[in-house]
Amino acid sequence: MKIAVFAGDGIGPEVTREAVRVLEALGLSGLELVEGDVGAAAWRKHGHPLPPQTLAIAHEADAILFGAVGDFECDNLERALRPEQAILGLRKELGLFANLRPARVFAGLEDLSTLRLEIANKIDLLIIRELNGDVYFGEKGIRILPDGRRQGYDLMSYAEDEVRRIAHVGFRAAQGRRGKLCSVDKANVLETSQLWRDVVLEVATEYPDVELSHMYVDNAAMQLVKNPGQFDVVVTGNIFGDILSDQASMCVGSIGLLASAAMAEGTKGLYEPIHGSAPDIAGKGLANPMASILSAAMLLRHSFGLEAEARRIEDAVAGALADGIRGGDLGGSHGTAAIGDAVLERL
Ligand code: IPM
Ligand code: MG
Repeated sequence: MKIAVFAGDGIGPEVTREAVRVLEALGLSGLELVEGDVGAAAWRKHGHPLPPQTLAIAHEADAILFGAVGDFECDNLERALRPEQAILGLRKELGLFANLRPARVFAGLEDLSTLRLEIANKIDLLIIRELNGDVYFGEKGIRILPDGRRQGYDLMSYAEDEVRRIAHVGFRAAQGRRGKLCSVDKANVLETSQLWRDVVLEVATEYPDVELSHMYVDNAAMQLVKNPGQFDVVVTGNIFGDILSDQASMCVGSIGLLASAAMAEGTKGLYEPIHGSAPDIAGKGLANPMASILSAAMLLRHSFGLEAEARRIEDAVAGALADGIRGGDLGGSHGTAAIGDAVLERL
């Protein structure tokens, strides 16, 4: 069980520390943790947000526990040196193409949602976002047109095999949940989306037990706040998934509680909280480590098949919440270490 630990920037190190304590407390045999530098922290130390030694650790590991990257001081660096390139580079280099972003309301925390209670308490959905293609990785740049105007461009494209493999992830996830898959695209305008829809329909013939629907992304954004309970599994491309998953997390209202996985073909995966590096509270011991701890649970489940251990962690977090342990993000006053202690006690 070789796990790379990339804590990164801002609150990344402090929340990841608590997740590591939880992993160590389980007494798993063969557990080996290897730390590496990413993000602005790595840029300061090695001159690059994803230095070769970090990439080597990532390649050798069975799974990666990731903290957060991002630092305002790097906003003016050339794009290739910005902290975000660490996560984008890892996704691409390791072929982490399937992003699982579950969003559900924790019992007793419904009032954190910005939605009305009777709407919020129905949220239990999983967004599956493609991570290796789309405008993120297409040809891009800022060029000068013949008439002298500057033009920015980012090419959107998906090859059919890229759509097919993420569609399979979506259908299989739906089979393991409530059997509903909603594919989100913009096929009324974009050719990329037309191909996406065609391929999803082809793949659907292999999953007659899954109820498939299609939705344009603008409508999906509206439905997510109108009636989020209608969604079980949502599968979508990189940019739409980026936007909709942030929206879904706010529908739940507690971004400090949401974990995510980025999976390659097979069991290798990178696990990280949905929240960012939160530089305003970094280093103060105020950040809620629950999303990082829940990322560790996802890691055990998806990379090592340790369902019981994953459940133990999730139950410990739910137990702490039920007992009133709340970080500042949830309107409480428990600090990072206190929350870690509370989860460990219940473990
Ligand atoms: C996310 C983030 C990243 C993305 C950034 C940090 C590059 O917003 O994981 O959703 O856009 O994918
Ligand atoms: Mg995002």
